[in-house]
Amino acid sequence: MHFRDTYSDEYEMYEEMFDPVKNDRQARRSRRSRIHPASKERAEIVAELTDEIETELDGGFRITYQPSKYEATWLLQSLLPFYGQTLITDVLALIKGGKEASVYRCRAHPSTGLDLVAAKVYRPRKFRSLSNDAVYRDGRTVLNENGKEIKATDERVMRAFRQRTGFGLRVAHTSWVMHEYTTIEKLHEQGGAVPQPILSAENAILMSYHGDENVAAPTLHEIDLERDEAERLFDEVMRNIEMLLALGWVHGDLSAYNILYWEGEIVLIDFPQVVNCHGNDHARAILERDVARVCDYFAHQGVNRSPGKIAGRLWKRYAEIPLRDRLADASVDFPPDED
Ligand SMILES: Nc1ncnc2c1ncn2[C@@H]1O[C@H](COP(=O)(O)OP(=O)(O)O)[C@@H](O)[C@H]1O
Ligand SMILES: [Mg+2]
Repeated sequence: MHFRDTYSDEYEMYEEMFDPVKNDRQARRSRRSRIHPASKERAEIVAELTDEIETELDGGFRITYQPSKYEATWLLQSLLPFYGQTLITDVLALIKGGKEASVYRCRAHPSTGLDLVAAKVYRPRKFRSLSNDAVYRDGRTVLNENGKEIKATDERVMRAFRQRTGFGLRVAHTSWVMHEYTTIEKLHEQGGAVPQPILSAENAILMSYHGDENVAAPTLHEIDLERDEAERLFDEVMRNIEMLLALGWVHGDLSAYNILYWEGEIVLIDFPQVVNCHGNDHARAILERDVARVCDYFAHQGVNRSPGKIAGRLWKRYAEIPLRDRLADASVDFPPDED
């Protein structure tokens, strides 16, 4: 999904301006501090754009949720593709605003056959300093907006990506969003316990909503389970870790904070940092951490398992390449003599 091309500069400006962690007053103050003669032109452009978006809002995309002024611009810009494709008709509430993303409860368009849907809108600021993400990105391909791998031979894109130019940061951002979306898609296809993916856009993903009209599903860390249910759900989490590993991936941020619980069922969420278990040297340690965090929660619910053993067994089964195969691979490096 693309925004108009002329957007790229303005998009960057919104990134600079929009920081929902600040309250409105702080945001206004920081905006005012930017309006000095040298940046007057910029400020005027932003003001015009804001008006334009508010007009678009009046023209159709009217939402119940009352965002702050700066959140509004970012939110509407990010969700416009879903509105344009008649997938959502309204934004009802902010479910949770986190460090990396905000998730909103939206009214689904009747054509989807759903009543409510969840839209995850990514916070742009994070992508200004990608150093934290390096450990996850190692061994991972760069994905374009269609979820397709950008070839290492695409020099223009790869150079921009490496050099962190404005364009490169957008490529990195899109790749981050698409790793989350394509992972949910793959797991969902295989019967994994994840939200149903609906559509991805440049800065947001749309998926099935878990919860009801008034409250979103709690995360596991917010609730206690009966022993029997805990045993069943522990197995279900492990089934999903295993399914993902069989696809070649480790969640990378799994814990009771990223598992939703609703009416006896769970779904795993929050996948943008998935780690390639075959191409990343830290993958095993990250798998061990995921399993340990899950075991830690379930231990408090009366289910005691050995995370080290579980992770070791999973790793051996799905990720460890037997020496025999490694040698077979190595032989490819010696092409047959053509003479
Ligand atoms: N599909 C969904 N249905 C209901 N609530 C959701 C859904 N996806 C996410 N949430 C809520 O939004 C929160 C943040 O989502 P998450 O993907 O974990 O992003 P973050 O990177 O901000 O942690 C979750 O803890 C959960 O409360
Ligand atoms: Mg999360």
